[in-house]
Amino acid sequence: MSKTAPTQPSPRAREQWSGQRGFILAAIGSAVGLGNIWRFPGVAYENGGGAFLVPYLVALLTAGIPVLLLDYSIGHRFRGSAPAALRRLAGRGGETLGWFQVAISFAIILYYTVIIAWSASYLVFSVTQAWGDDTQAFLYGEYLQLADAPGVSADVVPSVLIPLLLVWVVVLAILALGVQKGLERANLVFLPVLVVLFVTLVVRALFLDGAVDGLNAFFTPDWSALADPGVWVSAYGQIFFSLSIAFGIMITYSSYLRRRSNLTSTGLVVGFANSSFEILAGIGVFAALGFMAAQSGTTVAELEGIAGVSLAFIAFPQIISMMPGGPIFGVLFFGSLTLAGLTSLLSILQVVSAAFQEKFGLTARQGALRIGAVAALLSVALFSTRTALYVLDTVDKYVNEVGVLTSAVLTAVVATWVVRRLPELQAHLNAVSSLRVGTWWRVLIGLVVPVVLGYILVSGAVTLIQDGYEGYPRWFTNGFGWGVVVLLPIAAVALTSLRWRHDVDGFTPDTLPGVAARRSRTEARR
Ligand code: ALA
Repeated sequence: MSKTAPTQPSPRAREQWSGQRGFILAAIGSAVGLGNIWRFPGVAYENGGGAFLVPYLVALLTAGIPVLLLDYSIGHRFRGSAPAALRRLAGRGGETLGWFQVAISFAIILYYTVIIAWSASYLVFSVTQAWGDDTQAFLYGEYLQLADAPGVSADVVPSVLIPLLLVWVVVLAILALGVQKGLERANLVFLPVLVVLFVTLVVRALFLDGAVDGLNAFFTPDWSALADPGVWVSAYGQIFFSLSIAFGIMITYSSYLRRRSNLTSTGLVVGFANSSFEILAGIGVFAALGFMAAQSGTTVAELEGIAGVSLAFIAFPQIISMMPGGPIFGVLFFGSLTLAGLTSLLSILQVVSAAFQEKFGLTARQGALRIGAVAALLSVALFSTRTALYVLDTVDKYVNEVGVLTSAVLTAVVATWVVRRLPELQAHLNAVSSLRVGTWWRVLIGLVVPVVLGYILVSGAVTLIQDGYEGYPRWFTNGFGWGVVVLLPIAAVALTSLRWRHDVDGFTPDTLPGVAARRSRTEARR
């Protein structure tokens, strides 16, 4: 049983963003990440090209923005990290759901950091085009020293270890400075730089020979793809990862907002800014791929490896080597990837750090350093070795397609059907925002999200059970895929059972005009 100490007040005043602008920048910084630049273009291309924009926009409007607003309303109303806020919403079970989200974030952090480390290395390699003529051999052989088959290795690769440690030092130093001095300032600097770098990159890419063919390949719709349920699964999966929803980030970030904050308009700004960046990334990446195809005397459709790791670290280095002014283009591309990754990583780390700070009464500095030390050790042990790429690929797939979607479905079901507090959350959003959400929001959260995401989750899990993943050995996917997925709720239950250092339950949300009115109407009906 979790015990609380009701007489002890909360150990310190809760930190806050300096204002709405700081929050919007941090929320966009969190959303715009590796998922936008390297994941989206490949996912869109593989799932119908231009036609993918249809399920993508449907997913954004029916689940992305509604769940983003759900996260905002929970974080802002209950003013806590995911475990504290969800406990205040739904009791002890809610807290376990919160720790489940924290555990998902922790798992993502471990491999997200190493991708940023690779990007930072490639930023340096771009200057001299250190990858030579064979970018694939360079990545797998020289740089990652990838083992021949999936497995567990204790051989640390120094060329990965050094940038990985550097990334850890940078992000933990920022995190230790706290919300305003650390996170907010970092986003204030990194995000504008990222936008300038990325827009310059896209404009340059559009003027390359063959860019138009690349754009045609990207936007030419394959309408038959819409009949394929897998395409819809990919669209919903992409939106959740990309918007940073359902794994604690937006609950945590919105908990630092001032009392009077416009939540719904902010949600729309963040949602559309993220998708605009994503589509811009698709345009830039495919214009560059069109150039690559033209230089190689082939078509974009015949190019191989235009997704994920191979898109960023094999195809792009090739493009950089082929083009005039390649080193500058390389710095723009890998600089964007590094910055986009850093701002997202900070937000994912804050989910874990804030949760431990609140439960165990730590300062921002203690939270960042203690959590950071454990996470850094694990990320080095798992992701700087010769088998890192296989482990990363597997953890990413299972944690996102099973963990994040489970968390989204559970949060929607708990808020709507278990504790039945969706009207209160709706009233909260409407009491503080200029744009009101109507019954449609409750229908989307209470019915559409559980049914559609539930279907996607189950069908995705069944496929993983039946077919495995990427032909990796079963023991490997069972260990690093299902094994990690099973560890998440176990960790959540264990952390829930520990004692809070302050009175987490002695919190009463302010009575808002909308809530008061609704309550009196409900009482009048009784
Ligand atoms: N939202 C972040 C991304 O897209 C996690 O990478």
